[in-house]
Amino acid sequence: MVALNDRQRDGVERFGISVEPQLLADFDAEIKRAGYSCRSEAIRDLIRSWLASRRLQAGAGRAVAALAIAYEHERRDVVRRLTRLGHRHYSEIISTVHIHLDPHHCLEVLLLRGPVKKIQALADRLSALKGVEQGKVSMITLNNKRKEAQ
Ligand code: NI
Repeated sequence: MVALNDRQRDGVERFGISVEPQLLADFDAEIKRAGYSCRSEAIRDLIRSWLASRRLQAGAGRAVAALAIAYEHERRDVVRRLTRLGHRHYSEIISTVHIHLDPHHCLEVLLLRGPVKKIQALADRLSALKGVEQGKVSMITLNNKRKEAQ
């Protein structure tokens, strides 16, 4: 009979890290404020976040993104430009929510999915369209090992 090590038993690996006391105290205070119940979960999230930012920097892999843009719908032909760009990239834009903010201003949230570089370029183009006053993108990289839902 083969003995199972810790990793095989519960699917995690344990490791020790050395850190200055003040840095650890600051970290503990901040994760408590953020609502973490333990250091391990906070450190796992940090690792995931760091890996995701590295993938974004490298422009590698696939991502989903939420792009919010605000514009004045009567200005500069912006609606026609948005529609034209949207149809050109219909395969990357999977959903759109439009909210009329007031008699003149609109907020549109576009959900994008595709290769990181393509999604970033599309978000940049939509945000830079004449008439778009603000654009903010939030991107989540897809772990290649995890099967992406089609
Ligand atoms: Ni509107």
